[in-house]
Order: sequence, then structure tokens, then C-alpha cells
Amino acid sequence: MAVAVRSFAKVNLGLLIGAPGARDDGFHELRTLYHTIALHDVVKVSVSGGGRTGIEIECRQRGVPLDESNTCWKVVDRALKALKMRARVVVSIEKSLPVQGGLGAASSNAVAALFGLEKAVKKELSAEERLAIAAEVGSDLPLFLVGGLVLGMGRGEQVYPLAEISPLYLVIATPSAGVSTPHAFAAWDRLFQGSAGLTEAAQSSKLNMFSQHVYGWLSRTQFSPAASGVPAKSKNRAEHLLLDLVRTGIENDFERVVFPQFPELRDVKRALERQGARCASLSGSGSTVFGVFDGPKQAEKAAKALEKQGIRAQATTTLGREEYWKKMWK
Ligand code: C5P
Repeated sequence: MAVAVRSFAKVNLGLLIGAPGARDDGFHELRTLYHTIALHDVVKVSVSGGGRTGIEIECRQRGVPLDESNTCWKVVDRALKALKMRARVVVSIEKSLPVQGGLGAASSNAVAALFGLEKAVKKELSAEERLAIAAEVGSDLPLFLVGGLVLGMGRGEQVYPLAEISPLYLVIATPSAGVSTPHAFAAWDRLFQGSAGLTEAAQSSKLNMFSQHVYGWLSRTQFSPAASGVPAKSKNRAEHLLLDLVRTGIENDFERVVFPQFPELRDVKRALERQGARCASLSGSGSTVFGVFDGPKQAEKAAKALEKQGIRAQATTTLGREEYWKKMWK
């Protein structure tokens, strides 16, 4: 019998990229806030013993690899080894989320396959083993081991759960452009050689400012002397972060390299703002652009208006941690 898992997407509520060469492994240092959202794929995992072994990936969507390069394949392979098991595992992916869309779909699919496998074989890996496997397969996987609002550091794989904020009403616009993340990082590196005025020192201080901002926010709401003794109202906590995000705008460094290459994505951001988005931003390296709206009706209306302009768009909400775990199982 197949175990079915809802594989939710994420958006990046801000993303800062470090200067090239700052890390020995060739990756870039990142600072980001991830939030899981209510849009999802469905991943089904079935396991059979009886001598046959191997991993098979099934997916009808063009652009999804069915071989060892699929993130689900990589995770299942590592998980079977960690569980010291040999079996035949079929992972079937029902896609609704865009491929290469900046919504973390492939990463989320892989984590869903991991949870599905554990449930199917009635064995559990330790949290540390799960994190090690997820981080090895890709920088965007570990956030899906947490869900809700997540602080991402390192190359994005160091993840810390943050206190829940009230739901954000979103419009997710998914233009058809496919942005390659490695290419976007390479273009980012070139900004440091050109006349764009980016310097290692300035970028490193921006990353530090981000950390200070998150610390300030946590401190105001969770562990400052002012917060102690008086139980902070969770709604107030939420509003703090929301107001900060909206006031400062949601900055994603990838916009500096992706928008010049795909000007239509900048137009989508403008279209969202014209429809009343409090702020709008590229998610990850794109091509998804999302807008934050005041309420569900405003988001629905804006999504319809974008669709009329020929831009694929859907209204949805952020998905808190508790709901993420509750709704994962179909
Ligand atoms: O870890 P992930 O598979 O998502 O990374 C894909 C590619 O993106 C890496 O091979 C690397 O070139 C680039 N990358 C990076 N810095 C990061 C994350 C990814 O340079 N923090």
C-alpha cells in the first residue's frame, strides 16, 4: 500500500546572498526567512520486499528527472542505507507546483519521500540523520524538516524554527520562465567584478544587519527583560515581524541578477504591486514572484486580475508549523 504525503511549497520572505569566495566549499553564505505555504504536490511512496531492489521515480510532468538525479531518489537511497535496508521503493510524484520555480518543490518532494518511506517501512531515522541526509542532498531541503516560519543560514541548510506569525495572504504568480539557480549564483558573482558597486565588505555588513534585525525581532518578542514576566500576546509578536517586513520591503538579492535577465518577472512584481500588494518579491531564484495582501478577498481579486493579464497566479496563505505537520498526511 502506498503512503501519500502532501509536499508543501515555501516562499523566501527576504534573501541575502554573501559575496563570492567567502566559503571554502564554493557555496554562498545565505540569510533568509523561509515560510511554508498551503500549495502542495502529492508524493506517494510504496515499498515492497521479496528480493527485488531498486528505486523508481514516477512523474508525468515534463522537466522532472526520473533517474538518480531526482532529489527523491537521492534521499531514498541515503535513507535506505541509513536504515540498513534493501527494498524496492516506488516514489510517485503528482505535480501541481512549478518545476524550477523558486518554491522549493523538488526539495519538498524529497523530504516528503523521506517521511513517506519511514512511515511505509515503520522505521524512523533520528532527527540528526534526517538533517544530515537532507542537507547533503540540497540546501533547501532542511527547512521542510521544520515547516512554518524558518530562519535559514549557512548555505540555507542551517534551519531554526521561529515563533509563528499570523497568516499572510499571498498571491503566487508563476511565470513560465525557468531560472537556473547555479546560473543565478554565477551572475551574482559577476556583480562583484563589474560596475554594480557591490563589495565583499558591504555585503558582509548587510548579512550582519540581517542577523541583528532577526535578533532584535526575537528579543522584542521573546526574551527581552520587557517581554519577561508579561506573557507576550502571540498576535503582537506576529504583527511585529509582519510590520517590519512590510515596512522595509522584502529584499531578495537574486532580483538584482534575475530581473535584468528576465524583465518579464519585474513586470509581474509591478503587476502585483499595482493590484494592491503591500510588498512583492521574487521567491528563491524565481521564477515565482509573490505578493503579500491585506486579506483573502484582496488576494483572490488580485490573482484573478493577473490571470486576466495572462499571468498564471493563485491566491493562497502561509502555512504555520502546526498545520504543516497536521496536513502533511493525506
Ligand atoms: O544545494 P543546492 O542543490 O540547492 O544548490 C544548487 C547549486 O546552487 C549549487 O551547486 C551551487 O552552485 C549553488 N548554491 C550556492 N550557494 C548556496 C546554495 C546553492 O552557490 N547557498
